[in-house]
Amino acid sequence: MWFQVDTGILKVVLEAAQACNISTVDFYPDIRQADPRFGDFQANGVLPYAKLHHLNPRHVTEQIVEKLRSLEVFSGKIEVSVAGPGFINFKLSGSFLTEWLNLYKSENDYRSAIAQNWSGRRIVIDYSSPNTAKQMHVGHLRSMNIGDSIYRILKFCGADIIRDNHIGDWGTQFGILIMTIKKEGLRISDLSLEEVELLYQRGSTLVRSNESALATARNELVKLQNGDSENLEIWKIINKISLAAFDDIYREMGVSFDYTLGESFYRDRVDRIYQELMEKHIARIDNGALCVFHEDHEQFSRQPFIIRKADGASNYATTDLATVLYRTEILHADELIYVTDGRQQDHFQQLFLTVQKWYAAFNRKCPEMQHVWFGTILGEDGKAIKTRSGTPIKLKELLNEAKTRAREIANEKSEGLSDSDRQHVANVIGIDSIKYVDLLPNRTNDYVFSWGKMLSFNGNTAAYLLYAIARIKSILRKCDTDIIDLTADCLETEEEKNLVRKLIYFPIILSQAAKELRPHYLCTYLFELTGECSTFYRADRILGEPTNITSRRLAIMLRTLNILETGMHLLGLETLERM
Ligand code: ARG
Repeated sequence: MWFQVDTGILKVVLEAAQACNISTVDFYPDIRQADPRFGDFQANGVLPYAKLHHLNPRHVTEQIVEKLRSLEVFSGKIEVSVAGPGFINFKLSGSFLTEWLNLYKSENDYRSAIAQNWSGRRIVIDYSSPNTAKQMHVGHLRSMNIGDSIYRILKFCGADIIRDNHIGDWGTQFGILIMTIKKEGLRISDLSLEEVELLYQRGSTLVRSNESALATARNELVKLQNGDSENLEIWKIINKISLAAFDDIYREMGVSFDYTLGESFYRDRVDRIYQELMEKHIARIDNGALCVFHEDHEQFSRQPFIIRKADGASNYATTDLATVLYRTEILHADELIYVTDGRQQDHFQQLFLTVQKWYAAFNRKCPEMQHVWFGTILGEDGKAIKTRSGTPIKLKELLNEAKTRAREIANEKSEGLSDSDRQHVANVIGIDSIKYVDLLPNRTNDYVFSWGKMLSFNGNTAAYLLYAIARIKSILRKCDTDIIDLTADCLETEEEKNLVRKLIYFPIILSQAAKELRPHYLCTYLFELTGECSTFYRADRILGEPTNITSRRLAIMLRTLNILETGMHLLGLETLERM
């Protein structure tokens, strides 16, 4: 019994086609969701094949269908029919659905069934990656949420995946900071990150109007880069303060990393990059800077990828090249995923093109590289979201506000709970809601941030899903049957069948989310599953029916709950026992 039904059907269709002497080289049956009036899945692909070979498509379809009907895997379980000019429809029988339901029961079952597809792939995912010396703001939310969810999805699918927080800890901000700290004679170890940020603001105001301060700041930066011990000490303390503040947010968001190798980690690993790229004539000097041009590319034949500035300093591109080397040679990654906003698309395209040429020139196995980019969070005025004073909203404040607003809701809706339980409910609703609104839109779209919509119990929100889950849990608590080992006998009602059909879609959606690196498919799915589940228990009584019916329906509920919770966890969302 297949866990993922579409790929299972696909395999059999290809075998059947081969048995009918249809060459699978140019036959691509795409297994899609069918019009529910005619079936559950549909295979197309015969039409283009028949056209190519000047055959009658209907005839080819009939041949394949006849073959399929004779196969053991389908008999009595999946009804196969010819549809339209050359489509094949598949309808899952009640007994197929029951068998699936009784076989895939828990998160562990799903995990081991799906892991076959992804095992053996070593991936490094680079996400969050803020710059130090500044607080995280709302612009840092999406990389964290999307990256964390993709990590969870790929890990669940069996990938050997490493999380690397590539913090920007070697930037030009340190020249100004060190200059200001020395000038004001501050003891920085006592400072908070907010204070460091204010310090930086004072310093940058100063250098804008004061030439000599600007020169001092530049000089402090050069000294830092040349390893001056006093400056290195200041730099270290500032990074420590920054990381401690980031950690508070990561803890609150339930996000963690396997490595935090910032840009500074690569600062002594850049010479090899210059040498290798020059040796193979991939990089050349242009206006004093070392640049890579991609002659075969319309835009990047003219727009340089600067890998060493004219003053000899390395930059963002250099460290990213050195990082690729580290991730492939030391971490042995086959695939690299970068999660940043859409404005960095040029950078990553140029990086990937450069790496491809560079690795080919040295006969190294080039990793697969993907830039998982995302759109902007907009305010209700349709512009990038900001505070009233025009600065980006601090992430810490955003999270606090979410929890405060959720607390008001919990006070109203969770009257029966103790104060500390209510606070827990509020924290989960608050943080989950922020994550969910961020994951729900297709990542490449912008979205409008609205507290009202986000915390509503109606519509596609975290609160709605959390509530549905808590409700199922409360129903399950009411029955004293030993529900762990429930098995269902053959499904009867349409609502039962429809709900189980929806459950069967879970691995399909999961694979799609993993393949396209888009968690929003899961959000949409969980919302639809919840709807199907409500329809089911509105129509079909669970308790007070004959034992076989009650236990069948409880089994369906329990599996629905497992899939809902598994899905929520894959999005990085915590769930609640009661609300
Ligand atoms: N620190 C960068 C920023 O704040 C993001 C780094 C993304 N990762 C990378 N390897 N370039 O925009």
